[in-house]
Amino acid sequence: MENIESISLRISDLRRQIERAAKLYYDNDAPDISDFEYDAMFEELRQLEAKYPELDDPSSPTHKVGGHASEKFEKVTHPVKMGSLSDVFSEDELSAFVQKATDTLLENGVPAEDIVYSVEPKIDGLSVSLTYERGTLTLGATRGDGTVGENVTENIRTIAGIPHQLPEPLDLCVRGEVYMPREVFYELNQAKEDAGEKTFANPRNAAAGSLRRLDAAECAAAKLDIFVFNYQTGSLYEDGHAPETHAETIGRIADLGFHAIRIQKLARTPDEVVEAVREIGELRSGLPYDIDGAVVKINVLGQRTILGENPSTPKWAAAFKYPPEQKETKLLAIEVNVGRTGVLTPLALLEPVQLAGTTVSRATLHNIDIIRARDIRIGDTVIVQKAGDIIPEILSSVAAKRDGSETVFRFPEHCPSCGETLIRDKADDEDASVAEGILRCENPACPAQLERRIIHFASRGAMNIDGLGPSLVRLLIDEGLIRDAADLYTLDFEKVAELPRMGKKSAENLKNALETSKSRGPAKLLWALGIRHTGEAASEAVIAKVRSVDALFDAKPEELAEIEDIGEVTSETIAAYFRLPETRTLIDKLKAVGVVMSLPETDAAASDNDDKFAGMTFVLTGTLTTMTRAEATDLIKRHGGKASGSVSKKTTYVVAGEAAGSKLTKATELGVAVISEDDLLKMANG
Ligand code: IVH
Repeated sequence: MENIESISLRISDLRRQIERAAKLYYDNDAPDISDFEYDAMFEELRQLEAKYPELDDPSSPTHKVGGHASEKFEKVTHPVKMGSLSDVFSEDELSAFVQKATDTLLENGVPAEDIVYSVEPKIDGLSVSLTYERGTLTLGATRGDGTVGENVTENIRTIAGIPHQLPEPLDLCVRGEVYMPREVFYELNQAKEDAGEKTFANPRNAAAGSLRRLDAAECAAAKLDIFVFNYQTGSLYEDGHAPETHAETIGRIADLGFHAIRIQKLARTPDEVVEAVREIGELRSGLPYDIDGAVVKINVLGQRTILGENPSTPKWAAAFKYPPEQKETKLLAIEVNVGRTGVLTPLALLEPVQLAGTTVSRATLHNIDIIRARDIRIGDTVIVQKAGDIIPEILSSVAAKRDGSETVFRFPEHCPSCGETLIRDKADDEDASVAEGILRCENPACPAQLERRIIHFASRGAMNIDGLGPSLVRLLIDEGLIRDAADLYTLDFEKVAELPRMGKKSAENLKNALETSKSRGPAKLLWALGIRHTGEAASEAVIAKVRSVDALFDAKPEELAEIEDIGEVTSETIAAYFRLPETRTLIDKLKAVGVVMSLPETDAAASDNDDKFAGMTFVLTGTLTTMTRAEATDLIKRHGGKASGSVSKKTTYVVAGEAAGSKLTKATELGVAVISEDDLLKMANG
């Protein structure tokens, strides 16, 4: 049953998730969910707040413009607040918006023939304001929170489509969207991939990342462009003449030398507006830049004042968001990849197709069941969609387009990397996406697995070795420079410098990154080893108990199984892994080069012990900010409490960090008390 408490919790949950996602999007230029998912959460929150005004809060993300100015740049207050647009997600909502605006204008005595809407693409980039004093560009700023943005003038000057000097000495402020053309984005990402650097998820993040570089030369290299779409303040003509319509404004902006928004359609009725939005949607995939919607604006500027503004969005405009792009293409072949733990996963090779800003030529098929369930055959025409902006998936095949030449896919019987006979295995927790009957290569020396293990070892969540991406790992293996993860630490950096696309500087950076990675700590190291059934949380729980990786050579499975959240399978697997002679060799090598194996000896650990938490069970969820999970678990135990991985009626407290998810929801459903990390520390200390 929905009660007000559970709604209140859903609201705080949504706010937290939205804030987390907004931070990744605006501040780090590295989102981990798609815009579509973000918009859906935002919309749900907005509706809940509208339905339950008593739960609304002025500090809710729905009342703010995302993002805030970074400390990296000087902060500037915008001469005119840079608002945002309210979104509509369906043609019905769009029609309703138009009808409502039209009705209001009619009620205010505007003649029907004067009511016109301008419809234009919503460019998927980042919003900037450009200020000119007596015709000279004096300030280029990002939107930030809408009131205060970042001064990025030096970078703005590198952008095509922004004049440094206007043909007339005007005082003027305009607003537009800085974007990266798709072609430029492909090239940039290719170069990054070749250099083993992290690639950008989409052109928008690439544009945002580039515009916020401290070095203007790096921004210039990103070949950004702009579409100016709004006049903010000041004068567009020397004689003070003011344009009457949006269309006239945009024409004048283009005459002044800006790249102004080019596609504009005029429409009068809700139906005509819907039609214009559809037409722009059809242009979408053919444009050389990304758009994520269409913007509908009242064309006659004087009418905008009649309609007015909400706190952060105008009532005279709305943004229609297009659903994720889907495309048809041909499934050319299915390749089988060997994962880190030997599991084989099918990968679809597609005829390259442009989709949401990237060329898609591969898609995951997750497992054989999906191929069967969706009756996907080699040679089929298939529909691909980008789910999270990043990983494309095959939605279905178009059976009507078959000509009989298609073939049913059969899984191989031997490992494509080492030739070992494959073993049929039951699905396990790490392969949760695999329904049943997965195939596995059990050869520990299989080259494909070795490669994947080292890639995992170096990855962000594990030892986080900057600059060591999949292609460099592959190259190091191919060149015979490494045979296991420990070899990374004794690399001959002179040889590394001579590798294609490396050079002295990159080799030096890699050396430093490796050095830094040595002190990630035992929990990260255990996770980095890539032991089956042993995820990040399990690694932390184990280390919180045994305190060092070394200790695992002596640990018995029964002892490990006593650790909260560590099941029999995991404890058996860890114990078996530490019985392998190869493990001894690897750990000894890592130890010899100075990789940290143990948690620091804290005096606190000994002296702090008490029974404050006796009889209490805690569940940690979300990201903690002042301590790691292992430390929090340790803290709870030192005070006599229990830490558990799942919420039940028996749970005393759920400790919710940033971006807490389903466990938090469960806690509220069960009426379990939710506390913050801060509360936990306070309880422990006093
Ligand atoms: S008009 C007062 N027109 O979409 C609002 N915005 O959420 C004026 N955007 O941050 C916005 N293309 O940066 C407008 N043709 C366009 C646009 C556009 C992209 C961005 C804009 C804003 C966001 C709205």
